[in-house]
Amino acid sequence: MRLSRTVRPNGLSESAEKAEGEQLVSMTDARTLGDRSLARCPVSHDNGSWSVWGNDEARRVAEDPHVFSSRVSRHLSVPNGMDGDEHRRFRAVIDRHLSDDIIVPLYPDFEHIALDVYGSMGDSFDANVFGSLVAVRCQSRWLGWDAGYEDELLAWIADNQAATRSGDYSRTAAVAEQFDSIIRRIIADQPGEATAALVNDTVEEADGERPLTHAEVVSILRNWTSGDLGSITYSIGIVAHFLATHHSIAEELRRCDETGDTRALDMALDEILRIDDPFLANRRRTTRDVTIAGQDIPAGALLHIQWTAANRDPRAFGDPDAYNPEGNAARNLVYGAGPHVCPGRTLSTLELRAALVALLRGGELTLVGHATREESPAGGYAAVPVTRVR
Ligand code: HEM
Repeated sequence: MRLSRTVRPNGLSESAEKAEGEQLVSMTDARTLGDRSLARCPVSHDNGSWSVWGNDEARRVAEDPHVFSSRVSRHLSVPNGMDGDEHRRFRAVIDRHLSDDIIVPLYPDFEHIALDVYGSMGDSFDANVFGSLVAVRCQSRWLGWDAGYEDELLAWIADNQAATRSGDYSRTAAVAEQFDSIIRRIIADQPGEATAALVNDTVEEADGERPLTHAEVVSILRNWTSGDLGSITYSIGIVAHFLATHHSIAEELRRCDETGDTRALDMALDEILRIDDPFLANRRRTTRDVTIAGQDIPAGALLHIQWTAANRDPRAFGDPDAYNPEGNAARNLVYGAGPHVCPGRTLSTLELRAALVALLRGGELTLVGHATREESPAGGYAAVPVTRVR
């Protein structure tokens, strides 16, 4: 989500707890908190920042970068923390490396990786463990990273999830630094073809192209990979949970896989993640006074676009849990909207499709007991224990 790039919402549990008057019913699940906040108001203000929960309102903020700036942090964040022409120039670099021409040919390898990882799981396993292995191996395949980094990257995913869960800024800052140190070693070591192409790439300036700086390369790689390992892991856990609790839809998707209907599989993934979006929120700062949903927000205010809640807005989707891939596609905000819309959508969809196909081909999944929800400010499940019936 990518969370220096993906910002988990701040103060969410605290504010929701106050609003519920000390009542701690499922108070740790970010999705439940989002639903409740949205039911009260599509835009709210608490603890010095604003949250935009509604679907129309979230889209409006994401599509208006002049009023809602992405420059929210003093740290370099390429291209997430940039606006206007600077964002356009760096976004062009990112788009070159995530183009369909580069990403689509990787799919057979992703499928091979997912089937291989699935084959190494026992009959009962935690789908998040399956997901984290698929995420790390697909990413390493894409970026050409040595398998020797796998254990360190897996340990990092676990540390990052624990730090996010703790809501402690110093812990999240420490894991961000830990990730930067892995990235610096990979660049200095054997970067692999795709990473080397980025290291040697250039960015447009007023007087021509100039090489990317080391700091820019590290920031790009951090934003490509750090949160994404987490988002893909959580997404695979969510998809496995959905299959294990919706057997007739799983059967339908199994037939789509058999007939090679990849469009239907990809639409199903978008819809499953709409129902339960693990990528919670991103930040913006207002550049002038503005009114949304009747709320007057002053210039300079910090605001969170609450994607998970916006993807479950009953005004946009009716029953937020009703599965309707075709009907809900147009209002789906899982990959954002506007100039910062996710450039990793194809990569993400292909990694998730590979995982989905492996889960479908492995036989029917059922839950072993209960899956455990993550605690706000993280989304998705902490663990999804499943068993397969071949
Ligand atoms: C399930 C997986 C993913 C989800 C749900 C997701 C979602 C999003 C969303 C909602 C945004 C918009 C952020 C904003 O408006 O501030 C975004 C931006 C971004 N995503 Fe993704 N993403 C995913 C996977 C990926 C992957 C695999 C990559 C690349 C390796 C990636 C790279 C990025 C980057 C670089 C941006 C910032 C774009 C910009 O500022 O112009 N994402 N993503």
